[in-house]
Amino acid sequence: MAPRCPWLRPLSLPGCCLLLLVLGSPRFFQSHAVEVDVKDHSNTTCIYAKWMMSFLIKYETNSSEYKNATLNLTSTNVTHDQSTCGDKIHAPLLAVQFGAGHSWSINFTKTNETYQGNIISFTYNTSDAVFKDAKTKGLITVVVKDTLPPVQLNTVYRCRHLDSIEVANVSQFFWDVTLQAFVQNGTVSKNDSTCEADRSTVAPTTVANLTTAPITTASSPLPTTTSKPVEKPLTGNYSLKDGDKTCLLATMGLQLNVSQEKPVLININPKTTFVTGSCGNTSATLRLNDSNSRLIDFTFAIKNTSANTQRFYLKEVNITLIGSINGSERLHAGNNNLSIWDTFLGSSYMCQKEQTVLVTEQLQMHTFDLRIQPFRVQDNKYSKAQECSLDDDTILIPIIVGAALAGLIVIIVIAYIIGRRKTYAGYQTL
Ligand SMILES: *[C@@H]1O[C@H](CO)[C@@H](O)[C@H](O)[C@H]1NC(C)=O
Ligand SMILES: *[C@@H]1O[C@H](CO)[C@@H](O)[C@H](O)[C@H]1NC(C)=O
Ligand SMILES: *[C@@H]1O[C@H](CO)[C@@H](O)[C@H](O)[C@H]1NC(C)=O
Ligand SMILES: *[C@@H]1O[C@H](CO)[C@@H](O)[C@H](O)[C@H]1NC(C)=O
Ligand SMILES: *[C@@H]1O[C@H](CO)[C@@H](O)[C@H](O)[C@H]1NC(C)=O
Ligand SMILES: *[C@@H]1O[C@H](CO)[C@@H](O)[C@H](O)[C@H]1NC(C)=O
Ligand SMILES: *[C@@H]1O[C@H](CO)[C@@H](O)[C@H](O)[C@H]1NC(C)=O
Ligand SMILES: *[C@@H]1O[C@H](CO)[C@@H](O)[C@H](O)[C@H]1NC(C)=O
Ligand SMILES: *[C@@H]1O[C@H](CO)[C@@H](O)[C@H](O)[C@H]1NC(C)=O
Ligand SMILES: *[C@@H]1O[C@H](CO)[C@@H](O)[C@H](O)[C@H]1NC(C)=O
Repeated sequence: MAPRCPWLRPLSLPGCCLLLLVLGSPRFFQSHAVEVDVKDHSNTTCIYAKWMMSFLIKYETNSSEYKNATLNLTSTNVTHDQSTCGDKIHAPLLAVQFGAGHSWSINFTKTNETYQGNIISFTYNTSDAVFKDAKTKGLITVVVKDTLPPVQLNTVYRCRHLDSIEVANVSQFFWDVTLQAFVQNGTVSKNDSTCEADRSTVAPTTVANLTTAPITTASSPLPTTTSKPVEKPLTGNYSLKDGDKTCLLATMGLQLNVSQEKPVLININPKTTFVTGSCGNTSATLRLNDSNSRLIDFTFAIKNTSANTQRFYLKEVNITLIGSINGSERLHAGNNNLSIWDTFLGSSYMCQKEQTVLVTEQLQMHTFDLRIQPFRVQDNKYSKAQECSLDDDTILIPIIVGAALAGLIVIIVIAYIIGRRKTYAGYQTL
């Protein structure tokens, strides 16, 4: 077989699959996702997929306890040799292998109008060091029918939202999914089928549902880490691009405060956090994806003020923690009714001091060294900053001086009036 993808090891299958690490803006932090392009004998794409996934697996230890382990598929040691476009008998199959002999696959079916995932198969290797002290070492396979509804043929299924499938001791999580099976003429469609969850993000009712129904229950607290990070989180520079133009800029240090029986502070490390999202004229979304399966979505909006000026503000924050602390819990928290980080459209919002965003009662987010511009970024640079009132120590001085001056003027005026009255009265008696 000709090495169509010479940087991969020789393929055992007809066709060439392409796996890319998509790098984002070099100046700011890169974003990456697993991208697989399954091609047939004639080098024609039949399945295209780009997505994120992670696994939370419960296993028994040799001391007959149960532990949880997390497997992430964000690393570069991913291959996909078993993927195939299928034939008259076999369905097309998207299959990836990663880490110490773990593998995941899904095959697809279609009708005249739609296509759909059929069977998801996941095999994990409990000999992997992740499964510390596992009682049985070896390969375990779980098989489950895909639950996603059918997608219209010749459209790309897109879903930023987190979706999960649970079977036996395994929870599988998927997010930021772009997928098209049965690609026609080797060209990935320009038409999208957005998943219900993403579409309904706009509808407040559904979001309210999510925010009031966190997956976590009060009875299963996050295990606390012994050493909580009291230190300030590192500041990260994040950006989104529209073509080759930067359309959103964000700089911040982030810390999450998860209130369980014992509160847990989690610092988001910008070095292992990648960024996705979307820019728009009236709404923009920034998703920070910490490699430990922590997703933080910021949604910005624009409003018109009575003074006929336009302002932007942070409208919504959604946070998902998957197996966030030693892979043993997951939690979704959101607030779609925020009105903070509010400033004039065309400028950036800046707040150096620590700020707290109340996401839910269980989850607070602290920001440090914040600067954000979700709209109208010019020349890949921040526009003039409007500082938050917390930072405005300096503004106090003019205010005090101004107030003093105003007071002085009032006194002078009063003195003048009193003086005039006295003089007037004086003249009258004359
Ligand atoms: C397959 O397609 C890629 C890119 O479209 C091209 O670079 C490569 O030469 C093609 N290989 C064959 C065998 O046609
Ligand atoms: C479990 O296995 C580990 C090594 O795999 C061993 O160090 C430990 O002593 C074992 N524990 C029990 C209770 O057998
Ligand atoms: C998908 O794969 C499973 C087993 O891996 C198989 O039972 C099923 O028939 C396949 N689906 C199709 C449509 O071929
Ligand atoms: C399972 O993991 C162990 C330890 O990493 C490795 O030696 C073994 O080859 C793996 N099994 C498979 C089938 O990959
Ligand atoms: C894609 O959308 C365009 C415009 O809505 C439509 O004309 C076209 O038929 C669609 N293509 C497919 C494959 O659905
Ligand atoms: C694929 O090619 C055929 C023939 O060239 C054409 O009729 C069909 O519309 C194309 N399909 C798409 C989705 O472009
Ligand atoms: C969580 O895992 C880390 C290393 O992975 C370990 O040092 C720490 O003790 C664990 N914490 C708990 C509560 O198990
Ligand atoms: C973020 O960007 C600013 C301005 O471009 C730069 O001064 C700063 O050093 C960057 N910080 C990090 C952590 O890269
Ligand atoms: C974390 O949240 C809890 C409960 O909301 C609060 O009491 C605590 O002060 C917070 N910790 C920090 C460091 O903000
Ligand atoms: C493992 O995860 C499950 C599901 O989230 C949770 O119910 C269970 O308490 C966890 N077990 C441990 C030991 O943390």
